[in-house]
Amino acid sequence: MTRPVLLVTRRLPPAVEARARRDYDARLNPDDAPRTGDGIVGLAQGASAILCCPAERMDARTIADLPDSVRVIATFSVGYDHVAVEAAKARGIAVCNTPDVLSVATAETVMLLILAAARRAGEGERLVRAGRWDGWAPTQLLGTQVSGRRLGIFGMGRIGREVARMARAFGMAIHYRDQVRLPPDLEQGATFHENDESFLAASQVLSLNAPGGEGTRRWLNAARIALLPGGAVVVNAARGTLVDDAALIAALRSGQVGFAGLDVFAEEPKVDPGYLALENVVLLPHLGSATTETRDAMGFLALDGIDAVLAGRRPGNRVA
Ligand code: DGY
Repeated sequence: MTRPVLLVTRRLPPAVEARARRDYDARLNPDDAPRTGDGIVGLAQGASAILCCPAERMDARTIADLPDSVRVIATFSVGYDHVAVEAAKARGIAVCNTPDVLSVATAETVMLLILAAARRAGEGERLVRAGRWDGWAPTQLLGTQVSGRRLGIFGMGRIGREVARMARAFGMAIHYRDQVRLPPDLEQGATFHENDESFLAASQVLSLNAPGGEGTRRWLNAARIALLPGGAVVVNAARGTLVDDAALIAALRSGQVGFAGLDVFAEEPKVDPGYLALENVVLLPHLGSATTETRDAMGFLALDGIDAVLAGRRPGNRVA
C-alpha cells in the first residue's frame, strides 16, 4: 500500500523523524535549509500533509498555491500566527499545533530571562569571558531582587499559568491581564486586572505570554511602558511582535525599564541593533521550548494531529 506523502520543512529530532519515516513517505530536510513559501509549494506537490515550523510564513498566498492533495498543516509550535488560518479554512485544510507539551520548558525560559535580566547575568558573563573581571567588589554589577516582587503576566494561558506556578516559588505575587478572568482553580490566588492601567502599575516584573498576531501587535508600546513602575523588568518569550522595539529601547536607555530579557523578535533572526548596544538587556535566540524532551513531545503531538486528520478524526490539537 502506498503511504501518504508528508512534507517536513525542517530537520526534526531523530525520534520524530524516525516515526515520520515509519508512517509516511516522508520528505525530510536533512540539511535543515530554511524554506520559503515558494519552496514549500514546490516540495508539497503530491503531499497529503505538511509539518512546518514557526520560522516559515505559511501566508495566504502560500496556502492558496498549495496543491489540492494537502489536507493538513501541522506546525511544530504552539503559536500559529505564521499560518494564515482563514486561508487554510477556505481551502478545507486542517491546521494543528503543539499545545501543553511545551508549557514547562517555555516557562523555564521565562524564569531564566527574569533572573538573567534582573541579576545582570549577560553583563557578568561578558565581563568574565572578555578577561575584564578584576575580582569581587561590593558595588559590582548590582541587580535587582525578584523574590517577593509583583509579577504581571500578560496572557494567562497554559504557559502564563506555568510561569505563575514557578514564580510563586520565588515568593512573587502574581498579577495578570487576560480577556476574561480565570476560574479560581486556574487563578490560584493571582490578581486579575480588568484594565491595562492597573495591571501595568502593579507589574514590577512584566512577562509577555500572549499569542502573536494582529490583536497583540506592538501591545507593549511607549504609552503602556510609561505606566510600569520605574525600573521595571520586562521579559518576552512569546512573540517579538508584541513589543514596539523603538519604545522599549528608549525605555531601557532612560531607565524607565531597568532590565529586559528577550527570547523572541519581530523579524527573527534579525534583532533591532538598538538592543545590541545596550548592556541591560539579555538576548536569547528563541530558546523557549528548546529541550530534548519537549522537542520530541512537540514532534509527536504534531504527528498525532496529522495521523488523526488523515484518518478522518478531529484531533484535540486542531486549531482550524
Ligand atoms: C512556539 O511553540 O510557538 C514557540 O515559539 C516555539 O518554541
